[in-house]
Amino acid sequence: MTKESDSKPNTPTRDQIRALRKQYGEVGLPDEQVRANPFEIFSVWFTDAVANEYIVEANAMVLSTVNSISENEIFPTSRTVLMKDFSEQGFTFFTNYQSNKANQIAQNNRVSLLFPWYAMERQVIINGTVTKISEAESSDYFATRPWGSQIGAWASRQSTPLNNRNDLESNWNKFAQKWPEGSQVPKPADWGGFLVAPTSIEFWQGRYSRLHDRIKYERDLSSSSNKTNVWHHQRLNP
Ligand SMILES: Cc1cc2nc3c(=O)[nH]c(=O)nc-3n(C[C@H](O)[C@H](O)[C@H](O)COP(=O)(O)O)c2cc1C
Repeated sequence: MTKESDSKPNTPTRDQIRALRKQYGEVGLPDEQVRANPFEIFSVWFTDAVANEYIVEANAMVLSTVNSISENEIFPTSRTVLMKDFSEQGFTFFTNYQSNKANQIAQNNRVSLLFPWYAMERQVIINGTVTKISEAESSDYFATRPWGSQIGAWASRQSTPLNNRNDLESNWNKFAQKWPEGSQVPKPADWGGFLVAPTSIEFWQGRYSRLHDRIKYERDLSSSSNKTNVWHHQRLNP
């Protein structure tokens, strides 16, 4: 009989970590597939990601924000959120409006999003500005969430310290008693959606010998309205 510890893999050594590499190259992003509008490529890639059995949570994206308390203290913070909608207006996610990310956004509305679709040797990086969506839209989405998650939104004061897990669970139980399963749970005032309106979108496709394809789009902000949907793109060195 083997002890549990015998079957555990050893922590990789530095040399083993350095040897972790993959040869890319199956699919490229040739000029024929490059479109004037980046959302055409995004739609195709997102559809591919959802259909790909090796991609867990295709709509998961890394959101990076910065605090801008003072110029000397600017620091980025990253975390994963789930994209719940996208259109040419931008990418929507939901969260707590008192969370750390929301506090950072309140100080600086410039953010970055990253979709890590490694199983397809793809990455999409989006930079843009973020605004809250309407209360009505947030309530509509909140109503579609599973009951347990709705209660969870009431129970968690996201990003604030907790003494222990029991406090969180008893808070959840308190709200579960207030709105038992099957009842209509109202949206907490501090919970809702953000829309990231992109100013740049970069598509990365891994290729052989590290000769990856990168196409970066930048929104043309030169006209009077920044709602313009004119984009310029260029190929970048990998
Ligand atoms: C796969 C995955 C999906 C997540 N989705 C969300 C989400 O949609 N909204 C959210 O507020 N937090 C989500 N989280 C948790 C966040 O990454 C983060 O821990 C939390 O929002 C607190 O971040 P903050 O303290 O920077 O505000 C997700 C985490 C993971 C790993």
